[in-house]
Amino acid sequence: MPNAQTKSVSDKPVIRENVNLAPLNTLGVEAVARRFVEIDHPNQLRQLHDDGFFDRQIPIVLGGGSNLLFLNRPDRPVLKMSVSGRDIEAREDGSVLLKAGAGENWHQLVKHSIEKGLGGIENLALIPGTVGAAPIQNIGAYGVELKDVFHNLTAFEIETGKFRTYTAAECNFGYRDSIFKRELKNQVIVCDVTLQLTKNAHDLNVDYKGLNDHLESKKISDPTIKDIFNSVVEIRRAKLPDPSDIGNAGSFFKNPVLSEEQFETLRSNYPEMPSYKVGDDEYKIPAAWLIEKAGWKGKRVGNVGTYKNQALVIVNHGGATGEEIYNHALKIQESVRNTFDIDLRPEVNIVGNES
Ligand code: EPU
Repeated sequence: MPNAQTKSVSDKPVIRENVNLAPLNTLGVEAVARRFVEIDHPNQLRQLHDDGFFDRQIPIVLGGGSNLLFLNRPDRPVLKMSVSGRDIEAREDGSVLLKAGAGENWHQLVKHSIEKGLGGIENLALIPGTVGAAPIQNIGAYGVELKDVFHNLTAFEIETGKFRTYTAAECNFGYRDSIFKRELKNQVIVCDVTLQLTKNAHDLNVDYKGLNDHLESKKISDPTIKDIFNSVVEIRRAKLPDPSDIGNAGSFFKNPVLSEEQFETLRSNYPEMPSYKVGDDEYKIPAAWLIEKAGWKGKRVGNVGTYKNQALVIVNHGGATGEEIYNHALKIQESVRNTFDIDLRPEVNIVGNES
């Protein structure tokens, strides 16, 4: 790959003013960045550092813009990571390392891995966004999370201006969570990510109910990684709106995790409630079910709505402001709290209401 860090020449980054962010966020919210810089080579981060760019304000880092909501015109500069490059390295143990630049499109990377016969990320097909954003929230779908195939990543430390490698253990991955959303928030910028994939003897994950049902309906009993990839693409296309047709940021909230006690109380009232046991005494409840039960599925209020095929997805029917979308989310939160006594937590990053 264009091993970006060792490439010696890179153009000086151009800082632009008053850049329209609407095409750069999948919710399609209007917002203007006072200062904007696009990075297509990691060395440009060091140049910015040496020029004092990071001294005044820490930038908002933008990947595919598929997991954030701009509440208003951001004060902080916006830094778009567009570093490209892919590299495959075979290892002695038969596994393969696939390294990709932070700005690569995630789904294109999954497609590339299938074309090369590499297994491990087929369940993560069609997740919007970039490679660099994937570890931040430990993307996951259909029984697989990024952490299951993660090898390491290179990140730029804003304060020191140095590059550092983080192993899986150092990333502290959790459900849609990592150290980059917590202790290291606003401190590092992911430059590339390396995944450890299988060349042979793929470890297939077909237990997720929706995926299993879909494969059965296609009469596929011994699926290949390509079959799984195709199934996930079909399921997602049927349930989730395409941001190029209708603005959205995927699941707006995380699925809440309840203690055994909370879970039992709720189940006695709603015996039909779906749930997944996680850990010894905790249960994950689909937020989509709670939202649907609270009466929000397919509901539209002004320019904002809850998607007709998946109640966890908030959509911009056109022209919605960040604030309108945020208020819609607050109303959903409030009604789920009133109905079930459960607090939904946003999965998307809300930019503009941080301290
Ligand atoms: N359900 C409803 N109403 C709905 C949709 C779903 O009641 O409108 C119930 C059904 O019982 C269904 C269950 O919720 O079986 C789970 O639904 P689904 O399989 O669509 O998954 P999810 O829990 O809503 C999570 C991820 C998705 C990921 C899918 C598939 C989170 C926050 N979301 O959604 O990730 O694609 O599982 O693995 O964990 C994303 O993060 O942006 C995202 C789309």
